[in-house]
Amino acid sequence: MRYAHILATGRYVPERVLTNADVERVLGEPVDEWLRHNVGIEQRHVMADHEVTSDLCVHAAEQAMRRAGVTPEQVDLLVIATDTPDYLSPATASVVQAKLGARNAGTYDLNSACAGWVTALDVASKTIAADDSYQRVLVVGAYGMSRFVNWKDKRTCTLFADGAGAVVLGAGDTPGFLGAKLLAAGEYHDALGIYTGGTYRPATSETLALTQGRPAVQFLRKFPATFNTDRWPVLLQQLLGRARLGLDDVDVFIFTQLNLRTIEATMQALGQPMSKTHWTMDKWGYTGSACIPMTLDDAVEQGKVKKGDLVALCASGGGLAMASALYRWTA
Ligand SMILES: CC(C)(COP(=O)(O)OP(=O)(O)OC[C@H]1O[C@@H](n2cnc3c(N)ncnc32)[C@H](O)[C@@H]1OP(=O)(O)O)[C@@H](O)C(=O)NCCC(=O)NCCS
Repeated sequence: MRYAHILATGRYVPERVLTNADVERVLGEPVDEWLRHNVGIEQRHVMADHEVTSDLCVHAAEQAMRRAGVTPEQVDLLVIATDTPDYLSPATASVVQAKLGARNAGTYDLNSACAGWVTALDVASKTIAADDSYQRVLVVGAYGMSRFVNWKDKRTCTLFADGAGAVVLGAGDTPGFLGAKLLAAGEYHDALGIYTGGTYRPATSETLALTQGRPAVQFLRKFPATFNTDRWPVLLQQLLGRARLGLDDVDVFIFTQLNLRTIEATMQALGQPMSKTHWTMDKWGYTGSACIPMTLDDAVEQGKVKKGDLVALCASGGGLAMASALYRWTA
């Protein structure tokens, strides 16, 4: 049996910091107390005017490759998970391939919003297991959502931020990758997203006038406040059951980083202590498709993830798409 192993992680956090006080100045109303109390966000990082999503990817990928001892020419496949691409088409992965000099790599983008990186990790891990021509695979999650924010909309500009996280996958004959479980609730596809720029509502001056002249992320329709706390435990239990493992076998849980209160409620529902999870929304804001690899990298760097540990990843995002995955840490 071939299994995918995570050889190394990397991340990129843009330099520019916006504190809650900075956002209050832009919005002209208080949000700091609400953000700290309800979601645990204290500040966020946003990319510089000259940066684009592919640049975020390049920084995170280069760090992961350096740590894995892998050169760009050794990468067989490069997958970018993002819903804030450089262009509608072609894929941002092609841009990143050129910027990295990964000239032997196949490329594609994967979009299942904020569940995209865990979904990409699932596909890439199964590609490694199924086909021995893939030895080194880069899986990057990137978020440049500050370019799609309406700074007058307090429901979004307070939460979303920019960043990227990456892993280099290799092959081994012990697990590694233990499985994944995906699920969507497509009936909420019209609840949260960027609803211009595609065939449904092309980006014309009329449609863009609604959102300050650029496509903007919006919460359009309510979905149940307990959506994640209801579904994450079920998803994780199904995943662990298939691997014949229990919740107590998991050493580290890493969740989508939108709301610390949601993570606390989920850990309580799972009967697990908060010491077995890790969060970064307090310092980095909500970085969507990048937040899980960024948080994983932070946990690894802080010594919270060690060789032999069982790591459970659980994501959800617009769509509403969900993805969970289980890894035995081998690095
Ligand atoms: C987004 C989320 C934090 C909003 O919290 P909520 O309690 O549902 O907020 P509501 O929309 O009901 O708003 C209630 C009040 O909170 C305040 N509020 C809501 N969002 C706010 C924000 N981002 N910043 C500041 N205040 C906010 C407002 O005062 C609002 O009152 P108003 O309607 O009179 O203006 C919460 O729904 C959540 O965690 N959802 C999960 C989303 C998720 O995980 N999605 C997948 C990943 S993308």
